Amino acid sequence: MNSQVQTEVVKDQRKVAAKPKSKDHMWGIFILVVAIVTIIGYFIVSPQKLYKPGDDIGYNLGLAGGLMMLALLLYPLRKRVKFLDKFGLLPTWFKWHMVLGILGPLTIIFHSTYHVYIPYFHPIGSVNAAVAMYCMFLVSGSGTFGRFFYTKIHHGLYGRQATVNELKAELEQSGDVKSTFSFAPEIEKKMDWFRVQAEENAQAGKLGLAKFIAIGIQTEMLSRSLVKELHGIMRAQAREKNFTPAQMKSMEGMFIEYRGLIKSYLSAVRDASQFHTYERLFSYWHIFHIPLVYMMVFSAFYHVYAVHAY
Ligand code: HEM
Ligand code: HEM
Repeated sequence: MNSQVQTEVVKDQRKVAAKPKSKDHMWGIFILVVAIVTIIGYFIVSPQKLYKPGDDIGYNLGLAGGLMMLALLLYPLRKRVKFLDKFGLLPTWFKWHMVLGILGPLTIIFHSTYHVYIPYFHPIGSVNAAVAMYCMFLVSGSGTFGRFFYTKIHHGLYGRQATVNELKAELEQSGDVKSTFSFAPEIEKKMDWFRVQAEENAQAGKLGLAKFIAIGIQTEMLSRSLVKELHGIMRAQAREKNFTPAQMKSMEGMFIEYRGLIKSYLSAVRDASQFHTYERLFSYWHIFHIPLVYMMVFSAFYHVYAVHAY
């Protein structure tokens, strides 16, 4: 059912698949910590017993958050200005862009002591500060969407831009993956059927929204059903060959490897077929994101001018 070589192929594929996932986990943990701090912070600073936005502490928090957001704008600058090439690696700048894009707004939330003008609900306080605040939330939130689209059309979060042909070539290389399942021809056949169908749907970049969503759902469903089927087949073969407990244990290990392979293969098929749509979504995102950045910068500068002028 399995050879040493196949096991190595499986392990290599798993290593490749595992790397971006661990970065996603780190990012998820970071966002969770920020969310918890934001919730707990509300109870600590919103009664304004510790400080107010205009006090020393409040003012310095505003300054710190504002500087963080100015610093994150160095990333697009680093991308475009040739002279800045000498300073650091682009992926590092990008990482800090995203980290500061979350920590900056968090610092500003603490600066505001959660006191923001909201029409009808909380119509008290500075309107220009509130405009800056809403733009900031929109930009930071939209950045999170952008991050998602970005990973779909680049080699990982910090890799260079991918092309659909590269993704297809990678998929063809993983032809070995399908043959790994020669002991389970039904699974092999279904994986192949999924690839052919996804390729047909995506031809000439004409994947409509409905099919785009359907492929995502289908990938999830097929992953689950094939993994279940694989488990059944492996257990049946073990029973048939009267596996010893030690053999059963090693079979469970193989099952985990194969499960990872099925999932990464189906995800690779999905990503290749959705590529053009993600490219388009990323360019729409850009059109939406950039004016918001300008609005945020102008309203924040106006707010700083206003608090000093009056
Ligand atoms: C994107 C950046 C910023 C946002 C979104 C923001 C937001 C806010 C908000 C919501 C308030 C509370 C207003 C109220 O009570 O209704 C406030 C107050 C204040 N902010 Fe900011 N702020 C930012 C940056 C800054 C910076 C960089 C400084 C100073 C250099 C600053 C100085 C102040 C001061 C002095 C107050 C108190 C104003 C008062 O009590 O009338 N802010 N800010
Ligand atoms: C206040 C917060 C933020 C501001 C002001 C901001 C601003 C910008 C600007 C000006 C660009 C450049 C677009 C270009 O190169 O044409 C950009 C790109 C980007 N930002 Fe942000 N951003 C913020 C937060 C975030 C966050 C929180 C994330 C992710 C979690 C993020 C992810 C991205 C991505 C993926 C790109 C595209 C990168 C590329 O094409 O090279 N941003 N952002």
